[in-house]
Amino acid sequence: MHYITDFYFVARRFCQVLYFCAMKNRISFFVVALSLTALFAFDKMVFQSPEQLGERLFFDPILSLDSTISCSSCHIPQFAFSDTAFFSRGVGGRTGRRNSPSITNMTARAHFFYDGRAATLEEQVLMPIQDTLEMRANAALVTARLRQHAYYGPAFIQLFGKEADMAALAQTLAAFVRTLETGNTPFDRWMQGKSGGMDAAAVRGRDVFMNKGKCFDCHFSPDFTGDEFRNVGLYTGRRNLQDRGRFDVTGDSTDLGKFKVPGLRNVAVTAPYMHNGMFKTLEEVIEFYDTPNQVVPGGINRDTLLNEPLRLSPEEKSDLKIFLEALTDDRFIR
Ligand code: HEC
Ligand code: HEC
Repeated sequence: MHYITDFYFVARRFCQVLYFCAMKNRISFFVVALSLTALFAFDKMVFQSPEQLGERLFFDPILSLDSTISCSSCHIPQFAFSDTAFFSRGVGGRTGRRNSPSITNMTARAHFFYDGRAATLEEQVLMPIQDTLEMRANAALVTARLRQHAYYGPAFIQLFGKEADMAALAQTLAAFVRTLETGNTPFDRWMQGKSGGMDAAAVRGRDVFMNKGKCFDCHFSPDFTGDEFRNVGLYTGRRNLQDRGRFDVTGDSTDLGKFKVPGLRNVAVTAPYMHNGMFKTLEEVIEFYDTPNQVVPGGINRDTLLNEPLRLSPEEKSDLKIFLEALTDDRFIR
C-alpha cells in the first residue's frame, strides 16, 4: 500500500514538472496533454477510498504539533496496534494518563476510550490529535497543513469534493481503523470446525473462561467484550490507583472505578495490561483475577463477581492463558 502511494507521489510530481516545462518551453501540445492525462489518471488510481488515505495519515506525523508523533507511535502494528510502554509518550516526551490499547476490532464497539468519552470512531480519532499530552495540534494547524500538502491537498478534494477539513479527516482515519478487524485465530477455526484450531489445553482454558473463571460474564460477544463499564477494583484512591474511569465522564458515584471492558482479541501481544498497564504479563492478570483482594486490596466499588477468590489450580491458570493466546490473529504471530 505504501509503495503504491509513494510511487504515486513521485509520478505525480514528475507529471507536474513535465507539464510545467512543456508549458514554459512551448513544447508540443501533445506533451502537455499527455502529462495532464497522466496526472488525472494517477489521481483516480490511488485515492479510491477514504481508508487508503486514512492509512497513510495514520502513519504520518504531520498530524502532530511538531511533526514527531503519528497515531502509529502509540498504536504499533506488530503489537496489534497497541504500545509496549505503560504510558505512551506524546509530543515533547510528555507521558499520557493511560496505557495505549489495541485498536483492532473496533467496528462493533459502542464507546471509545476506557471511560467511554467518545461515542463514535469519527469523534474519537480527532481527540488524540488535539490532546495536549499526545499530538498537541489543533484544527487550524492540521487543516492548513493538509490543504497545502502537495499530496493530501488534492486527495481530499478528490475524495470529498472539498478541501480538507476536520470532518473529512475524521472520516478517513475512522475508515482505516475499521479495516483493522481480525478473526484468523485458532479459536475462530475451532468454532468453525476447521483444521488449525485450538489444542486440548486451549479448549480446557475456554471452559475455565466460560465457567469457573467467570470471565465470560464481562468478556462476552464475538470480540470478548459486552461493551459495558465494569469495575474490577483497580481504583483505590491511593498512590498509583487514582484513575476514577467512567466517573469522570458521568459524575455518577456508582461509576467510580468503572472502565470499559476491553475486547480480548490479540490480547497475548498487547502487554502491559489494564488502563494503567499495571500487569506486565497474562500470568499476572490471571493471578489478579484469582485473588483480587490479595493483589489489589481496597478496590472501591469492586464488582461483586470478584468477591470470592476463584481458586484456580496451576493447570487451570495455564490452560486459561493458552486459551487467551488462541485469540491471536495469525498476522500478529511472530
Ligand atoms: C501518545 C500516544 C497516542 C497517540 C499519538 C494516539 N493514541 Fe490512540 N490511544 C492512546 C491511549 C493512551 C488511548 C486510551 C486512552 C483512554 O482510554 O483514555 C487511546 C485510545 C484510542 C482508541 C480507542 C480504543 C478503545 O478501545 O476505546 C482509538 C480508536 C485510537 N486511540 C485511535 C488513535 C488514532 C486514529 C490516532 C491518531 C490520530 C491515535 N489514536 C493517536 C494513545 C495514543
Ligand atoms: C466484572 C467484569 C469482569 C470480569 C469478571 C473479568 N473481567 Fe477482565 N476486564 C474487565 C475490565 C473492566 C477490564 C479493564 C480494567 C482496567 O483497565 O482497569 C478488564 C481487563 C482485562 C484484561 C486486560 C486487557 C488489556 O488489553 O489490558 C484481561 C487480559 C482480562 N480482563 C482478562 C480476564 C479474564 C481472563 C477473566 C476471568 C478470569 C476476566 N478478565 C474477568 C472486566 C472483567
